[in-house]
Amino acid sequence: MQNPDKFLITGGKPLKGTVVIDGAKNSALSIMAACLLSREVSILENVPRLKDVYSMIEVIKILGVNVEWIDNNTLSIDPDDFNNYEAPYELVKTMRASFLVMGPLLARLKKAKISLPGGCAIGARPVDFHLKGFRALGANITTEKGYIKAEVKELKGNDIYIDFPSLGATENIMMAASLAEGTTMIENAAKDPEVIELGNFLNKMGAKIDGLGNDIVTITGVKSLKGVKYRIIPDRIEGGTYMIAAAITRGNVEIKNVNPYYLKSCIVKLEESGLRVSTKDDSIFISDPEGIKSVDIKTMPFPGFPTDMQAQFMALMTIANGTSIITENVFENRFAHAGDLRRMGADIKIEGRNSIIKGVKKLSAAPVMASDLRGGAALVLGALVAEGTTEISRIYHIDRGYVRLEEKLRSLGANVRRE
Ligand code: EPZ
Repeated sequence: MQNPDKFLITGGKPLKGTVVIDGAKNSALSIMAACLLSREVSILENVPRLKDVYSMIEVIKILGVNVEWIDNNTLSIDPDDFNNYEAPYELVKTMRASFLVMGPLLARLKKAKISLPGGCAIGARPVDFHLKGFRALGANITTEKGYIKAEVKELKGNDIYIDFPSLGATENIMMAASLAEGTTMIENAAKDPEVIELGNFLNKMGAKIDGLGNDIVTITGVKSLKGVKYRIIPDRIEGGTYMIAAAITRGNVEIKNVNPYYLKSCIVKLEESGLRVSTKDDSIFISDPEGIKSVDIKTMPFPGFPTDMQAQFMALMTIANGTSIITENVFENRFAHAGDLRRMGADIKIEGRNSIIKGVKKLSAAPVMASDLRGGAALVLGALVAEGTTEISRIYHIDRGYVRLEEKLRSLGANVRRE
C-alpha cells in the first residue's frame, strides 16, 4: 500500500515571497542512466531529492553500479564493473523512466533485459520508437513474459526517423549511438531542454553529438566515454507550477533558479491571461493580475506548450473570466484531473483531446484524489484558491516530482499541511 499521506489545504491566501526551484527530475533521470556508458565515476550536482530519483538509484544499483549521495544533492555514480543487464518488473513498474537504461546497457554490455514499462494514468506509453531505434542500430529485440530482451554484436550507426519527437526515444537512441560504430542521424528528434542537457552531458563525456535542439541530431560513435562532473539544470515544470500557484491566488511571487527561456510558452500564455510577468536571467516575477482572462492552449512537443503543464493551467482556467479550450496533443488520456476539479465546482467538459473550461466565480473544498503527478499538482493549485479546506489523497503521485512542496508553499504563505 502506498503511503496514506494526504494534503489538507485551506484556500484563499494570495502567495507572496520567493521560492527556489530544485534540479530537473527528468534531466537527472536520463543523465543518471547515461553515467552507465563510462567505466569512470561521474559526479552529478543539484540532483533533486525525489521519489523518481530514488527509484532510478535502485534500478542502477540492481545492475551492479555503485551509487551514493556525497552531499544532500550530489550523487557519485561508479559504473566501473557492473555486469547485470536485467531491470526487474517490480522496479520498472514503479517508474517507467527506468527504460532509459536500455540504451546504455546495449552500449556497455551488448545486451539488456527490461520489463516492458506498463502504461500509466496518462496513456499507454508504448516504447516502439525506442525499439525501432535499437533495431536500426543492429540490435535483435524479442519480447517474452512482459520483458523486452535486446542483444547486439556491435552497435552500428544508422539513420533513424521517429514518427513523433519522443523525448525518451531520442534520449535512449542518443545514448546507444554514442558508443556505436559510425554515425547515427535521428530525424524528427525531440528538442526539449532535458534532451539538450543529456547531449551536453554526453559530449562532456567525450561523445560527438551535433544538432541538439534541432529536428536532426547527429551522433558520431566513439570508442569510450569518460566520467565527468555535471550540474543538473533547474526543473522547468516545478518552476511553471509555482508560476500558476502565484497566478491562481493572485499573489506576488519571485521564482528563483529557473531558466525563463525554457518556460517561454507558459510565460506567453500567462501574459495573454492578464498576468504581469517579468524575468531576469534566472528568475521570473509574477505579480497581481487584474483578474484572469480565459485563453486557449494546445500542448505540443518543445518549444510548444508543455504537456506537463496542461493540468496546472487547466486549474487556473477553472476560475478565469470566459471559456477556454485546452487541447492535449501529446498524451491520449491526460485529463484525469478534470473529474476532481469538477468536484471542487469547476465547469469542465471533455470531448476527445479537447477540454472546454467555463470559468466559475469560485472553487469550493471537496475531498479529491491525485491520479498522476501533474494532475495531482493541479488539485493542489485548485485547493490554494478554493473556499474551505480541501483534502487531497494519494499524494505519493505528487511526491514523485515536487521537492518539499508543502514547505515551499507554506513559506509563500499558503495554509498547507501533510497528514
Ligand atoms: C517524457 O516522457 C517525460 N518523462 C514526461 O514527463 C513528459 O510528459 C513527456 O516526456 C513529454 O514531454 C521523462 O522524461 C522521464 P514521449 P516520455 O516519449 O519520454 C508516444 C513527468 O511528468 N510514444 O515524449 O515517455 C507517447 O505515448 C512525465 O515527469 C510512442 O508512441 O514521453 C506519447 O503519446 C510524465 N512510442 C508521446 O509519444 C514511443 O516509443 C510523447 O511521449 C515513445 C513515445
